[in-house]
Amino acid sequence: MIPLSIAEVSEITGATGDRVADQAAIVTGPVVIDSRQARPGSLFAALPGTRADGHDFAADAVAAGAVAVLATRPVGGPALIVPDVLAALAALARAVVDRLPHLTIAAITGSAGKTTTKDLGAQLIESLGPTVSPKNSYNNEQGHPLTVLRLTEQTRYLVAEMSARGPGHIAELCRISPPRLGVVLCVGHAHAGVFGSIDDVARAKAELPEALPPDGVAVLNADDPRVAAMAARTAARVVTFGRGPGADYRATGVTVDDAGRPGFTLVTGAGSAPVQLRLHGEHNVANALAAAALASQLGMDVAGIAAGLSAAAARSRWRMEVTRRPDGVTVVNDAYNANPEAVRAALSALAAMAGGGRAFAVLGYMTELGDQAEELHEEAGRQAARAGLAGLIVVGDPATPILTGAKAEPSWRGELVQVPDAEAAVAAVGRLVRPGDVVLVKASRAANLQRVALALTGEQPL
Ligand SMILES: Nc1ncnc2c1ncn2[C@@H]1O[C@H](COP(=O)(O)OP(=O)(O)O)[C@@H](O)[C@H]1O
Ligand SMILES: [Mg+2]
Repeated sequence: MIPLSIAEVSEITGATGDRVADQAAIVTGPVVIDSRQARPGSLFAALPGTRADGHDFAADAVAAGAVAVLATRPVGGPALIVPDVLAALAALARAVVDRLPHLTIAAITGSAGKTTTKDLGAQLIESLGPTVSPKNSYNNEQGHPLTVLRLTEQTRYLVAEMSARGPGHIAELCRISPPRLGVVLCVGHAHAGVFGSIDDVARAKAELPEALPPDGVAVLNADDPRVAAMAARTAARVVTFGRGPGADYRATGVTVDDAGRPGFTLVTGAGSAPVQLRLHGEHNVANALAAAALASQLGMDVAGIAAGLSAAAARSRWRMEVTRRPDGVTVVNDAYNANPEAVRAALSALAAMAGGGRAFAVLGYMTELGDQAEELHEEAGRQAARAGLAGLIVVGDPATPILTGAKAEPSWRGELVQVPDAEAAVAAVGRLVRPGDVVLVKASRAANLQRVALALTGEQPL
């Protein structure tokens, strides 16, 4: 982070000191919200959690070396008291950005693929200069300022992920770190239930192109009409990516190898080059194209982009993570999250990976789909059946419409089981699979199916 004195932090956040002995003491970072991560020089931000209140851990953070605690009430040690700790973190993050005139900020939003595109984009852009990008999905009002606060004087690029669970969220993240480049990947059903409708989701995602300056670049998905339409809502120059012939950055000759990894020719106005991704699933072609467009707009050449994409590894876990077990069963852990578009993508990757062999899917429910939840779960079940699975294991009561959908495909002859929980799911898979089979595990985070995946790979007992 950029070192800031207690006096500076107080001024930026409007905080009043409590038991702060030394206004000149320097916060050198990291800024943390988990007292266990506090180190000498840290600032500990006490947030009210769902299970615990950060204020209760203030003493631990100070004992570990935190210079002060950002808090809403006295904590018995050195504290900077503010009415709203998240707002204070946002103000601090913005102040850091304002001190870095040579920083270029790229932001990525969309209903699916943000983390993957962020990880791919960061791996390309790192070759251009010192780059900061969030760990995992640090993409909201809490994680984003913490990421920004990791910037240093040396940082040239911030590749940020921005998520929205309501109107105004992305606009707020853009105020914290005004992006010059903004990618919108797709508008899907993720969180549609929280927003109201898919058009409300589109309006919220459009806050990113709307926030871009006239000398900025909006990177829009030409294959998603709701995203392409955002060209009318930005002052920035627009470049597009997609599979169709009209896109500025496009993929031709897409192939998928027998491990489900896509290859393609990256075609741009400045030349073409072959790409072979190490990531699994054809949906990653779109994510790779978006990352390519970002890197190209920052000055990287096509050959470098293609080589970088081909070398890029999955940095964030539980996204199409493939484990080949010693017994010859392949487990695909895609249990990080799910929404209808992501399930479709994962099922099609599964079919490719199974080749001529047998494929199984363990599916749990998808949260926050609103009025259409039942219909969208049924559709996921129909897609699973049409993917020609050898078996579908539906986990938990709320996922029942997946079963209904799969049953409605009369031609499908696969095994169909419903189980109540993770334990029963692991047992069912154990009964059904044999060497050579591929098993996909996918659900929304709340369904907790990563436990199933980790048990199946042997990483963690249930
Ligand atoms: N372009 C895409 N289209 C459809 N589904 C996708 C796409 N990219 C990723 N996914 C699905 O979404 C899951 C989460 O991917 P991730 O990159 O973490 O997205 P996000 O950060 O937007 O949640 C993946 O495991 C995959 O199943
Ligand atoms: Mg994410």
